[in-house]
Amino acid sequence: MTEKLIIHGGKALRGEVEIAGAKNSVLKLMAAALLTGDSIELRNVPHLSDVAVMTQVLKHLGCDVDQQDDDRLYIQARNITSYEAPYDLVRKMRASFDVLGSLLGRFGEARVALPGGCSIGKRSVDLHVKGLMALGAEVEINHGYVEAKATRLVGTEILLDTPSVGATENIMLAATMAEGSTILSNAAQEPEIMDLANFLNAMGADISGAGTNELIINGVKPGSLHGTTYSVMPDRIEAATYLMAAAGTRGDVTVNNVLPVHLSSLTHKLMEMGADIEMPTPNSLRLRCDKRLQAQNIVTQPYPGFPTDLQAPFMTLLCIADGVSIVKETIYENRFKQVGELKRMGADISVERDVAVITGVEHLSGAEVNAHDLRAGAAMVIAGVQAIGMTEVYDLQHLDRGYEHLVEKMQSIGADIQRVPDTSGRVILTEDAM
Ligand code: EPZ
Repeated sequence: MTEKLIIHGGKALRGEVEIAGAKNSVLKLMAAALLTGDSIELRNVPHLSDVAVMTQVLKHLGCDVDQQDDDRLYIQARNITSYEAPYDLVRKMRASFDVLGSLLGRFGEARVALPGGCSIGKRSVDLHVKGLMALGAEVEINHGYVEAKATRLVGTEILLDTPSVGATENIMLAATMAEGSTILSNAAQEPEIMDLANFLNAMGADISGAGTNELIINGVKPGSLHGTTYSVMPDRIEAATYLMAAAGTRGDVTVNNVLPVHLSSLTHKLMEMGADIEMPTPNSLRLRCDKRLQAQNIVTQPYPGFPTDLQAPFMTLLCIADGVSIVKETIYENRFKQVGELKRMGADISVERDVAVITGVEHLSGAEVNAHDLRAGAAMVIAGVQAIGMTEVYDLQHLDRGYEHLVEKMQSIGADIQRVPDTSGRVILTEDAM
């Protein structure tokens, strides 16, 4: 039975929320665990459907994977039985493509299904493939699979056309096992890249420069990486979601277990719009807002710019801000899926190609809406808590990919939100891998 959310909006959210480990980091750390046969213990691991899919991928390859009820997850890649990540798993989640770099690095062989496009854009993997070829791999695309082989990988200089997060990760994973040094320029600088580099270094790798646009990866000898225990970085996108929900309802919410610097591009915008933000401790952020937010313009950019993953949720605030706002999406071709739904709630938005113009209205009104993808789904929840009346949100499988205990956390800060069976017999609209 599918489920839906029922939200009665219009109440100021108040309280504290504990933020989980980052989805977009833990999935890559799980792929990196393939680089050693020793046991890996990850902590601060969220319970998400995407973690369950990566678990399936690793088990398919022959790994032992055990996620505990608390925040621990154990992986041991000692008895690998396959070098192939099949399409029926990769299509569920693009991040499974990261096993390519690890399998190639450790075993010199990998066959990983091409993820294909997804609902937010084409999302090519050409830069992943070019990077691995520069390291000496032979790569062919056959029957929808990337087939990569290398008798030896050799470090080299690689310049990415664009600072792709996934390509930086796959190249880093393979280059860790290459002979000599790799200098990766125009690398992605996202905090999740730093988390992966720190994790690999804890396993015995030699990577420097993570968090800048130039990574230096000194390859290590085969078999020299070892087991470790590592705590996943906090989920900056989850934290941002609760801060924005607080701002939209003129509330007072503190998010704990965060690294505030990761949220700077958002917090600066929120303060310019009129919210008060302070840092009660080095690992928490408190947002208070008691007046109507002012209009604001954003352009999505790679880190440290404004994240594309926050564009849809942020737009819900602009819908009720005072004045006209402009949003330009530069990362994905098709990431305005939330617009139609927000318009159904009374928003005034017009879109031309990659630019949305939003004229603030006094308030949104509850409506039936779809969570078209993960972050568009977060936008629907934020819109629902700030709207007058009842909002019903469908297609919750997208939200389950990235938000642990969403309903309970929202309830704990005073939201009137429930997850109930959807008895309408509706057909699920979208099932894209993100
Ligand atoms: C990661 O995706 C995140 N996913 C995305 O979050 C996030 O939106 C994105 O980084 C940007 O921050 C995970 O970490 C699992 P990219 P990724 O490679 O690695 C183009 C979410 O909601 N490109 O940096 O796939 C590509 O088409 C998800 O949690 C190429 O052209 O992103 C896109 O336009 C959604 N060729 C741009 O670069 C390539 O070979 C950025 O993609 C690779 C990418």
